[in-house]
Amino acid sequence: MPIQWFPGHMASARKKAAEAMAMTDVVIEVTDARLPEASSNPMIGELRRFRNRPCLKLLNKSDLADPEVTRAWMDFYNAQPGVRAVAVSAKNPAEVARIPGLCRQLAPHRDDGVKPLRMMIMGIPNVGKSTLMNALLKRKVAKVGDEPAVTKHQQTLDLGPGMTLTDTPGMMWPKIDHDADGYMLAASHAIGRNAVIDEEVAAFLGAILLARYAGRLAARYRVEPAALAAMDGPALIEEVGRRRGCLVRGGGLDLEKAALILLQDYRDGALGRISLETPATRARMIADAQAAVRAAAAQEGAEPAGEDEGGDCSGDGGGD
Ligand code: G4P
Repeated sequence: MPIQWFPGHMASARKKAAEAMAMTDVVIEVTDARLPEASSNPMIGELRRFRNRPCLKLLNKSDLADPEVTRAWMDFYNAQPGVRAVAVSAKNPAEVARIPGLCRQLAPHRDDGVKPLRMMIMGIPNVGKSTLMNALLKRKVAKVGDEPAVTKHQQTLDLGPGMTLTDTPGMMWPKIDHDADGYMLAASHAIGRNAVIDEEVAAFLGAILLARYAGRLAARYRVEPAALAAMDGPALIEEVGRRRGCLVRGGGLDLEKAALILLQDYRDGALGRISLETPATRARMIADAQAAVRAAAAQEGAEPAGEDEGGDCSGDGGGD
């Protein structure tokens, strides 16, 4: 299921973000700690690197993510030039209070008492940008909502003496390269419901949960671990449906309802702290995708150029 999602206002948001980047000292990129790479818009990195701006990479919603995996991601990002990564919860004022100081460290040339430090918050929809903006300013300036793309306009506000903060609308990119990224984004509600099929997304999520967090599933839905071991994503949805009495008229299972229960339990943290990708699973996914591209290219190269049947007869040497 290739997911494509690029409403017109997001294209204009990109243009405005590119303009604002020129007047920014530090980019605060907000990602979802449960899927930091899948929730990182490659366009943000491109715009930032083009202007050579340092980045404070926030792994937000870390209260919902697997702490061990989040640590691995921080090591991954902190090894990148111009990037400082921190795990935060935008809902935790003490963690948010550290952010301006960390930005200052990334742009020491702006700490001269004259030029203000200009920070810009960027990220895809629903990663917590508005929550962060409100927490930094200690007042409600941005509308928070779990429906993607609530903030539509860019705004710049003073953040104490010598510091400004620009908020940008959630920005998606035109084509999501890996289907898995689309599923992770949909499971975490960065892509709206009308763009995806809940059952497919829940089956994808279910497969990850079965592979890495089966104990949580056993506890939440009271299923024997041995039974879970024999299940795949769709079978798990059926089991959730049975356990939660999701029935349609006539007695069959309401799989859509069961899928939504699984998705909502993940989104709310009812299954505990879960990460959908790790640096290792990401590297494997990319290597697999590259291998598939190479295999397809080799296959194409191996196919006969002409239309003739019986391609093993190349024509040369046939008369010897
Ligand atoms: P956005 O501007 O990037 O689109 O995201 P926004 O701040 O609107 O946040 C989207 C949802 O994520 C909101 O949920 C918000 O409360 C939640 N959220 C933001 N940061 C964190 C965090 O660090 N941890 C957790 N657990 N949730 C976070 P909502 O359901 O719409 O609102 P609410 O009922 O949670 O307030």
